[in-house]
Amino acid sequence: MKLEGKSIVVTGASAGMGQAIVTLFAQEGASIIAVARRKERLDALAEQLRDAPGKVIPYPGDVSDPAVCEGMIDAAVQEFGRLDVLVNNAGIMDDNTAVGDVSNEMIERLFRVNTYGPLYAMRKAVHVFLDQNDESGNIINITSVGAFHQTAGVAYCASKAAIASATKNTAFMYMEKGIRVNGIAPGGVLTDIPLVMPKADAFGFERTSSLLTHAPELGVPEDIANAALFLASDESHFINGTILTCDGGWMNL
Ligand SMILES: NC(=O)c1ccc[n+]([C@@H]2O[C@H](COP(=O)([O-])OP(=O)(O)OC[C@H]3O[C@@H](n4cnc5c(N)ncnc54)[C@H](OP(=O)(O)O)[C@@H]3O)[C@@H](O)[C@H]2O)c1
Repeated sequence: MKLEGKSIVVTGASAGMGQAIVTLFAQEGASIIAVARRKERLDALAEQLRDAPGKVIPYPGDVSDPAVCEGMIDAAVQEFGRLDVLVNNAGIMDDNTAVGDVSNEMIERLFRVNTYGPLYAMRKAVHVFLDQNDESGNIINITSVGAFHQTAGVAYCASKAAIASATKNTAFMYMEKGIRVNGIAPGGVLTDIPLVMPKADAFGFERTSSLLTHAPELGVPEDIANAALFLASDESHFINGTILTCDGGWMNL
């Protein structure tokens, strides 16, 4: 097992990629604090994985609240004695709006979940890693091809570019302390995310649709979970400050 004995926090664990990451990590022996707002889905996931080699503890909460981001890291330390890996996966899409029409509400909502949440969680995790005083610590941020390619509206793309930049900055700042920080930039992946997307803006959708013409087939959440497993495991110990693109080649078009 690749994650035996590791204490891991995964956000956005109630659906899509986060659920696939928790499932794979539990099968690989990890002890996991699983975070999302929908408690009943987290409870169902923990029950489903009851016989897995690892352990899953639901932690219901909204990652745009700094107290939740701090509390979920504290929970890992209380339950499992330490923190080894933080996976910032929770995220929401916008409605494809271009900057000329974007509302304050849309900008604020996207940044609160996609950018502020991961920043609050990284801040807390870094302190725990440093206090453990054993030159370890591993953060994986799920960003998006939208950080580099115009696959959504300005609020989504900018919120994901910000966290890609924060990934590289944090990797640089703490590299001499043994803390690794990497990102994954998924392309189109078959999840529930379109179900919770606001209704698309006509102009923005027309612009971003042009990129879909030659897009590869959608991936599945397990494709991202496999990449996350590699980055969470010691096999990737020499990888730091990288954004791993998992998009079937979309960014290469
Ligand atoms: N699917 C794609 O094509 C794609 C492409 C590129 C990047 N991504 C990124 O990949 C990540 C996972 O997306 P997905 O496709 O798996 O989406 P999803 O199926 O919609 O799942 C999103 C997860 O995030 C949680 N979440 C949303 N807002 C939250 C909040 N405020 N606090 C806590 N948890 C919250 C949701 O749980 P609750 O609703 O229960 O809180 C859910 O567990 C996101 O960061 C997304 O931006 C997705």
